[in-house]
Amino acid sequence: MPTLRTEAVSKEFGGVQALKGVTISLPAGSTLGLIGPNGSGKTTLLNIIAGLEKPTSGAVMLGETRIDHLPANAIVKLGVAKTHQIPRPFAEMTTRENVSVAVMYGRRRIKDTKRSLNEADRLLSLLGMDARRDLPASSLTVQEKKRLELARALATGAEVILLDEVFAGLSSDELRDSIQLFRKIRGEVGFSALIVEHVMGAVLTLAERVVVLEEGAKIAEGTPDEVVHNEAVIRAYLGFEENDSPG
Ligand SMILES: Nc1ncnc2c1ncn2[C@@H]1O[C@H](COP(=O)(O)OP(=O)(O)OP(=O)(O)O)[C@@H](O)[C@H]1O
Ligand SMILES: [Mg+2]
Repeated sequence: MPTLRTEAVSKEFGGVQALKGVTISLPAGSTLGLIGPNGSGKTTLLNIIAGLEKPTSGAVMLGETRIDHLPANAIVKLGVAKTHQIPRPFAEMTTRENVSVAVMYGRRRIKDTKRSLNEADRLLSLLGMDARRDLPASSLTVQEKKRLELARALATGAEVILLDEVFAGLSSDELRDSIQLFRKIRGEVGFSALIVEHVMGAVLTLAERVVVLEEGAKIAEGTPDEVVHNEAVIRAYLGFEENDSPG
């Protein structure tokens, strides 16, 4: 899988400058954290990479291929998948059916229902969700729905996974378990990850590098240790109350 890059991506929503010339790079197999206060443009950047929004200017590159003009389903077929900050399962379908749909519409061209359900079961088992397999997705807890989002992203066969606040709202014990689980899946499946959080916790543990956004602009980039000691970052987070609800 080639490196995923955004090059000077800007996005305007009717007068609101959501992103201001943001350049990031996610080499194959790496983990990049993307943090910033509420409204700083994190989800917008993920949506642009995933083809759900078009940039006002700038480009998204997968290796030498420019992908920002492609529709979202074409980007999934190139191996890039995103979780939704607010989970959006097909509510009436069971958990395994939800995952199997992602298998069928992903890049692996598995169209056979039985095979795709088997693959869904394998992934749900990897994620510790066997017991939820046959329940309607609507009956899952918020945290289980987030895990289902991760299962669906993996089910597409993606090699680049974009995670939008999947670790938000967890207790410290749950967070520790989720981080461990993420590492285990990483070991078995292998993918690069762009991890968005608005609090630093999971990102500082999992990411090799971290980019910080404030009001749509990149204000810092470096190792987790470098960014937590960066003055502009400290300023951006001063007076910012930790709040786990998606915004
Ligand atoms: N579809 C849209 N139409 C208009 N404005 C939008 C739209 N999407 C995002 N915005 C605005 O763009 C800015 C960035 O929003 P975005 O959702 O990317 O932030 P975020 O960093 O993900 O925030 P949070 O931590 O709350 O999830 C905000 O000012 C938001 O109101
Ligand atoms: Mg967001």
